Amino acid sequence: MPKTAAIVLAAGQGARMQSDVAKVLHPVAGRPMLLAVLDTLARVKPDRTVVVVAPGMEEVAAIAHQHPLAPQIALQKQALGTAHAVRAAEKSLGRFAGDVLILYGDSPLIDASTLRRLKAARRRKHNPAVVVAGFKPSDLSQYGRLAFDDKGGLCGIIEFRDLVNGDGASDICNSGLMAANAKHLWPLLRKVRCNNAKQEYYLTDLVALAYRAGLCAEMITVDAKDTIGVNSRSELAYAEALMQERLRAAAMAKGVTMVDPATVFLSWDTKLGRDVTIEPNVVIGPGVTVANNARIRAFSHIEGAKISNSAIVGPFARLRPGADIGPDVRIGNFVEVKESRFGAGAKANHLSYIGDAKVGVGANIGAGTITCNYDGRLKHMTEIGAGAFIGSNTALVAPVRIGNQAITGAGSTITRNVPAGALALSRSPQQVAPGWTVRQQKSKNVRQKLSLKSKLRRKS
Ligand code: UD1
Ligand code: CA
Repeated sequence: MPKTAAIVLAAGQGARMQSDVAKVLHPVAGRPMLLAVLDTLARVKPDRTVVVVAPGMEEVAAIAHQHPLAPQIALQKQALGTAHAVRAAEKSLGRFAGDVLILYGDSPLIDASTLRRLKAARRRKHNPAVVVAGFKPSDLSQYGRLAFDDKGGLCGIIEFRDLVNGDGASDICNSGLMAANAKHLWPLLRKVRCNNAKQEYYLTDLVALAYRAGLCAEMITVDAKDTIGVNSRSELAYAEALMQERLRAAAMAKGVTMVDPATVFLSWDTKLGRDVTIEPNVVIGPGVTVANNARIRAFSHIEGAKISNSAIVGPFARLRPGADIGPDVRIGNFVEVKESRFGAGAKANHLSYIGDAKVGVGANIGAGTITCNYDGRLKHMTEIGAGAFIGSNTALVAPVRIGNQAITGAGSTITRNVPAGALALSRSPQQVAPGWTVRQQKSKNVRQKLSLKSKLRRKS
């Protein structure tokens, strides 16, 4: 099998994003676009990967470097165009022989099957030097357009800025994805000139150069939705919408019920089991796993959390990173959970904050209970035993341990450990003054009469 190398271009400035953050680091479904591209690329197992960045993009390089593909980083010192950017990767690939896939770091929706088709097309019998992926967008105005000769052979790509009266350009646009034979790629790239509207070295010129050299250039077609590039914030929002559509469809195909899918937001890594139900208006951030038969009720916000089978979360629940919700647990409205494990069947149904805690099997957390986990400097643990009953409005001042089957009285502030089976009460004893309000009212009336009299006296 010939080898495959991949070059991912990420050195463009992305000026239209109007951002202090490099374009390829803007997230789609909770993951930077560049990592979305690298993850897809990983599925076709390239032998080598190079990410091309610009000076000052240390963060892009660092994030790319941590990816499992362990890409090499190449520096394009000046943004002189896409062909120039690919040339920046030449040294990193050395004498690599085989196919070179070229991808754009700002096209997060490409899928692995497109990359496989591109590779397969490159290896077809007539051995094209270059294969591009064409698509038909609804708006042609942003793209390079493919041109064909009389026999229907691909003979060039004309950038939209360089089009003069149509120029024989078709309505098929260049997605930017390309596969080239390394043997031809580097010599052809050296011939690219920058006499065009942008005064840049266009990678797209490779097609005409190959054609004129008598080397075949070919095209595969791809769905517009898989190839859109992000150049502005509104295109970022569009990419997000497409990605969400994809994620929801995949979840539903695997047996997840979504009452109103358009209002459910997932992350790229959301794992949802069979017969999970997600009610409307739920936001799921990165790092969430939901096991079979669990239900996420409306208006819940969940990130970095694990939800076990048959648990019910929400409505209006907030699960933050480290929330580990056991089987059959109930987390109700206005309950926030962070870095806490709930044992099977435990309940926190109303208005609570549970942070840095272990909640035992079957424990019941009363409404308004708060773990006071932070002393302004450090975080401390709260442990609640199996079957414990925490009365409403209990403040659990951590570090503190409540034993199995223990009870805390409503309104208690618990500062010391409570042994198993004990009742802990810390509220001050109630005082009752019989007839107090009646007496208050009487003396108020007397005062009012006296002040009225004195006013009248002053006037007369
Ligand atoms: C490019 C294509 C166009 C295609 C479109 C698809 C060229 C000349 N044009 O146009 O045919 O229809 O993509 O979205 O290739 N980059 C660098 N260094 C540079 C310039 C760009 O790394 O010097 C990177 C960018 O970070 C980006 C990618 O290359 O990831 C594409 O560059 P961009 O300027 O967005 O190209 P388009 O004008 O969109
Ligand atoms: Ca672009």
